[in-house]
Amino acid sequence: MGNATQSPETPQNTTTRPRISFLGCGYLGATYAICFAELGYEVVGYDVDEAKIEAFSAGTVPFHEPGLPELLKKNLDSGRLRFTTDVQAVADFADVHFICVGTPQRPGDHGADLSYIEAAVTELSRHLNRKCLVVGKSTVPVGTATWVQQIIDRHAPAELGVEVGWSPEFLQESNAMHDVLRPNRIVYAAQSEWASKLLRDVHKGILELAAVEDREVPIVETDLSTAELVKVAANAYLSTKISFINAMADLCETTGGDITDLARAIGYDARIGNKFLRAGIGFGGGCLPKDLRALVTRAGELGVGESFRFLGEVDHINSRRRVHTVRAIAELVDRPSGPAGPNLEGVRVAYLGATFKPDTDDIRDSPALAIARKLRQARAEVVVYDPEGIDNAKAEAPELTYVKTLAEAVAEADAVCAMVPWEEFRTLDPEALGQQVAQRRLLDGMNAYDPDEWRAHGWSYRGIGR
Ligand code: UDX
Repeated sequence: MGNATQSPETPQNTTTRPRISFLGCGYLGATYAICFAELGYEVVGYDVDEAKIEAFSAGTVPFHEPGLPELLKKNLDSGRLRFTTDVQAVADFADVHFICVGTPQRPGDHGADLSYIEAAVTELSRHLNRKCLVVGKSTVPVGTATWVQQIIDRHAPAELGVEVGWSPEFLQESNAMHDVLRPNRIVYAAQSEWASKLLRDVHKGILELAAVEDREVPIVETDLSTAELVKVAANAYLSTKISFINAMADLCETTGGDITDLARAIGYDARIGNKFLRAGIGFGGGCLPKDLRALVTRAGELGVGESFRFLGEVDHINSRRRVHTVRAIAELVDRPSGPAGPNLEGVRVAYLGATFKPDTDDIRDSPALAIARKLRQARAEVVVYDPEGIDNAKAEAPELTYVKTLAEAVAEADAVCAMVPWEEFRTLDPEALGQQVAQRRLLDGMNAYDPDEWRAHGWSYRGIGR
């Protein structure tokens, strides 16, 4: 994270570097555009959203991502980076076009909505006037690359010989710059030796930086279908790990076990590994939930749905975390649930965290926000504080009460729900906090605190699966 700007000067040999465009300036495309300029490439970021393009051009990142604003300004100044809504300028400029537009869940079903890809590729193809490579980065159902090639063949002059390649990305929000500049692997697919060489040249900057830092970055060159599948496979596997540990958390809760010890103990086995075994309120965000569902849907369409039924259960385990957590909070405040759920009328909850994870302002499919809304439906007064996510949360869930400081949230609270492991929450002092609340009751949705320490300060402590 953050250390990208402090890295040894990125080696910059622009002579053999292809010129690159990134179509779509959301988290993905914008971060890539900025980081590839940092790596020495001439880059243009394209989006149809004029406000977004104006913001980036003026040096403002319209979302929260640590370190990115500084890197944006630096690279705008370098002259290698610009942003535009002019698709003709993009078509004229780039040797390689990366598709980075969103592929959200289709309204009303679990498949992926490919309309943004269709629109971006169609628009670009109509303006192409030289041979170039169009490379998919967006997460898509397997088979999309072939369809993208068909769109190009329909709209771009055949004599140009425009080709499609695919190169999935694995960036995590809040760690995005690091993941682009210093990825743990590079995966790509090309349909010809020409495209393969171009993709090698596109990634040269990453390899040169790695060499300077004495790191190795493995490269997996593969076919289009595999490249598409790699991304969904990775996200489905990560989701499965989290739901597995959350299922074990349920078992710990009923048997008096401690899920944090259990996760630590199995994580020492290198075959299992200790990452993505944090039990809690479940996974959310703009990727894991929808990619899981899109994979199940696509597998069904391709006649192998049976093999992926278990991923439906991974999704259900995750959804049940939300109900489970509401029940735990009701028990904590002595309002056990009836058949219609709990009645939390008159209970003031200090609610810490609204985003889907810390160090982002992203609230897409946020478990914390979903649980806050359920508490409100159960008539609790929910006072939400989040270091960066308030504006987005307010737009999505206006029925909640929002405050600007942690102190305002916890004042006179009947229970504190610490839901998202922001640094500011993980370092709370039980005694100082105890003096601000009405009742010393803590729901530790992050499993971040030492229960004994909090209990020693008079708190009723409730974690998840411990
Ligand atoms: C994810 C993938 O990690 C990334 O490789 C891919 O490119 C995009 O999707 P991201 O959505 O940024 O990245 O979030 P991530 O850090 O993976 O967390 C996803 C969710 O899982 C969060 O809600 C997080 O709180 C939760 N989580 C993560 C757990 O509940 N337990 C864990 O142990 C880890």
